[in-house]
Amino acid sequence: MLCIIVAEAESEAGSLAGEWKKSVGQLAKTGLFNGNLNQIYVLPVESEEQTEFPVVILAGSGSGRLGTEELRLLAVQIAHAAHKLKADKLIIQVADRLNLLSAEGTEETAQALTEGLVLGAYRRTHYKRGQLLYTGLETVVLHMERTAAAAETADWNQGIMRGLTFGEATNLARNLTNLPGNQLTPSALAAAAIEIAERHGFPAEVLDEREIEQKGMGGLLAVGKGSIHPPRMIVIRYQGTGQWENVTGIVGKGITFDTGGISLKRAPGMENMISDMGGAAAVLGVMEALGTLRPRINVVMVIPSAENMPAANAFKPGDIVTSLSGRTIEILNTDAEGRIVLGDALTYALDWGAERIIDVATLTAAVLSTLGDIATGAVTNNELFMETFMAASRRSGERVWQLPVYPEFHEMLRSEVADIRNTAGRYGGATTAGLFIGEFAEGLPWIHLDIAGTAFLSKERGVNPKGATGVMVRTLLQYLLQLDSGEVAEH
Ligand code: BES
Ligand code: MN
Ligand code: ZN
Repeated sequence: MLCIIVAEAESEAGSLAGEWKKSVGQLAKTGLFNGNLNQIYVLPVESEEQTEFPVVILAGSGSGRLGTEELRLLAVQIAHAAHKLKADKLIIQVADRLNLLSAEGTEETAQALTEGLVLGAYRRTHYKRGQLLYTGLETVVLHMERTAAAAETADWNQGIMRGLTFGEATNLARNLTNLPGNQLTPSALAAAAIEIAERHGFPAEVLDEREIEQKGMGGLLAVGKGSIHPPRMIVIRYQGTGQWENVTGIVGKGITFDTGGISLKRAPGMENMISDMGGAAAVLGVMEALGTLRPRINVVMVIPSAENMPAANAFKPGDIVTSLSGRTIEILNTDAEGRIVLGDALTYALDWGAERIIDVATLTAAVLSTLGDIATGAVTNNELFMETFMAASRRSGERVWQLPVYPEFHEMLRSEVADIRNTAGRYGGATTAGLFIGEFAEGLPWIHLDIAGTAFLSKERGVNPKGATGVMVRTLLQYLLQLDSGEVAEH
């Protein structure tokens, strides 16, 4: 067992849980621990001392009051320290004057700390032989050391509940995204979706390759053609009000592996294309959390899933395919497959009653050139919708940067032989790819989130581990909960 004290800088007295004041004072004098922000100091405890805990982790919270992202990052540091010690139980004592620690409300503070702990405790499943000796943190107790009013205790507990839900939904998305392509085929992704839907009693539907063809989803069919693992169109609905109205569509790219197809990718780094269903994982994480949170909103989730392979029967550059919307698409590059399957998915989301749509996709290398792996790129046709979403992203701490849309970008997608073409040349690639998808929103409010840079990291950073991040789960949830609370106008 472990005990953790979130300490405040230069406050040997007052704010710390009584028993530890002395040792912390000592440490401050020697300069070993002075409570600077994110400073971690591990203190072994002798058995005859006043506690049952073998180790105390001191975590500095600095001298200023922290915002939500700082609280989250602090909690991540604590989770990492606990992990290094192979702890299975963690008790966190928050300094007794919460308002000295946090600049946020009670609920936000509890949510941010909990989120950080859950996100920081995540470890990717590995497949090494032999016994797994340490399976990670099992229990975390978040303690508010103060004589709190009942209302505040309720806020505190509500924050913990939200933080747990947001964090675990993100970890679910990370787990799915980290699965190798041989384990996660389109039908396996559909099975994972059905499992989530059934657990929460949500209506769900999976179309197989036959139904995909019958319905006229020519885009998804073409992209999935070259694989022995046939494509799937996956739908889950969450109905939180009496009527199926004012429906928000969330659409996630579900390419379980992207070789590029006939326009084959080069070998270095291709293994990372197991993450080309990061958008699908994100919207599934959102559905999982909605099952717990049950807000008064309506959501239709759509995932077009396929494996993009080169094969004798694969689709080819020069092919012209007819999408579900009736639009014909001239294929110029089979590696620009995401937008093709997403076009059909947007149309299908509209068929299911979506009145506004957010799509999430590992769509372009171009967004990586622009924003690196630091921020998610956004494209929209509705500034008000975008602003609302940006507000949610500021609260979640997940960075989103809007790309400008000029009329010329639309023109770059014109084809001489079809209604639209699937690539628009080298320049402005993240924007034109987004705009391709936006065509299928048929003028309804739409936001596209390109997570090609942020869904999968080459090394751990901030709240995220190496590999899958589950990015956009928390921002989407924050946005959807804002719709419920009526905090912001709907569009
Ligand atoms: N899945 C890739 C985008 C991607 C690249 C995701 C790097 C994560 C990391 C997408 O399907 C793709 O291949 N896009 C092409 C489009 C191009 C051919 C117009 C790209 O960005 O190179
Ligand atoms: Mn591709
Ligand atoms: Zn792709």
